[in-house]
Amino acid sequence: MVNTSNYDETRVQIDLGSPWSIGPVEVPTRLVLAPMAGVSVQAFRRQGRRFGAGLVCSEMVSCAGIEHRDEKTLGYLRVAEDEHPLAIQVFGSEPRPMGEAARMVEAAGADIVDINFGCPVKKVTKTGAGATLLEDSDLACRIVAAVADAVAIPVSVKMRRGLRDGSRACLDVGPRLVDAGAGTLTLHPRSAQQMYTGTADHSLTAELVSLVDVPVIASGDITSRARAQTVLATTGAAAVMVGRGAQGNPWALRDIVDGDAGEPTREEVAAELILFIRETVRELGERRASGFLKKFYGWYLGRGRFPRPLKQELVQLRSTDEVVERLLIAAPDAAPLLEQLEAELPSGDEVTLELPISLYGGG
Ligand SMILES: Cc1cc2nc3c(=O)[nH]c(=O)nc-3n(C[C@H](O)[C@H](O)[C@H](O)COP(=O)(O)O)c2cc1C
Repeated sequence: MVNTSNYDETRVQIDLGSPWSIGPVEVPTRLVLAPMAGVSVQAFRRQGRRFGAGLVCSEMVSCAGIEHRDEKTLGYLRVAEDEHPLAIQVFGSEPRPMGEAARMVEAAGADIVDINFGCPVKKVTKTGAGATLLEDSDLACRIVAAVADAVAIPVSVKMRRGLRDGSRACLDVGPRLVDAGAGTLTLHPRSAQQMYTGTADHSLTAELVSLVDVPVIASGDITSRARAQTVLATTGAAAVMVGRGAQGNPWALRDIVDGDAGEPTREEVAAELILFIRETVRELGERRASGFLKKFYGWYLGRGRFPRPLKQELVQLRSTDEVVERLLIAAPDAAPLLEQLEAELPSGDEVTLELPISLYGGG
């Protein structure tokens, strides 16, 4: 069915802080935190919810890993109480195992199961998964139908525009995926060939919105409230998704949702980073977390917030305790802020799992 309200005036008035829904799942704001392989750990998602993301998403989880009950892959399916609503994303190239994986995702407590038809990374596309499926719409539809049949929770699909530059495959396959059972589509309108170069062409997002009667989420290059508002207004998308803009910068999320443009103080940055370090260590264990966290030091401390040598120093340190100690020397007044943040966090389970973090994924 065609959405004839695509050019409706009321569109421009969407409040980024207003609720919307995906089937029965109420999403409290118009901001979705992007799935990012090697980034979207539970600590990142919980932080995203605290800073105003209405929906968060796991990084892509291998359907084959779930099928073979790979212990590390199953670790990705751990859901915390304070991250709902949450989508868990799966990737694979065969309908039946994807349906099985979706059942596991539902059993794990996810609110939505998301299917990755956007990953441009060779390791994934050469198996026929990710963005490759945009060029095999029959198989893509069979995967969505198998997943939708397998679960009662809503099914969403995240796509790129197509495989090659200039491709408009998403406009052919998108409506068919909705007919097959997708309750939401997210479009990152770059080609797989583009990877992350060039810009996201949201005129395609507007076209997709006009072709489907389900909410569309716009992903790509959204880093400010002004950009988010423009993309919502000019595309008719129900929500925007933020990825790289939120790396080491949860304040960007708050700014986009609330228009609270204040830059965080050094103390706020240090306190938030220390909390993130502690939560990640609790989640991944010290050994895995200390390597995983290194990229976050640059992301948090950059933007002129701290002198550059501090980041170099932190990545050399052996333990995360030493990193925390060094940060508290650089910003001593972060300590009371940190105490307050920790007191406000709901107490989750205390289990430490050796969760895997893939080197790089994408979509
Ligand atoms: C490091 C990294 C990992 C990513 N991993 C995934 C992923 O696992 N699944 C997915 O659908 N998209 C993934 N993406 C794509 C993002 O979800 C998003 O669509 C893209 O980065 C464009 O949004 P942005 O400009 O806000 O970053 C990844 C992106 C980055 C930068």
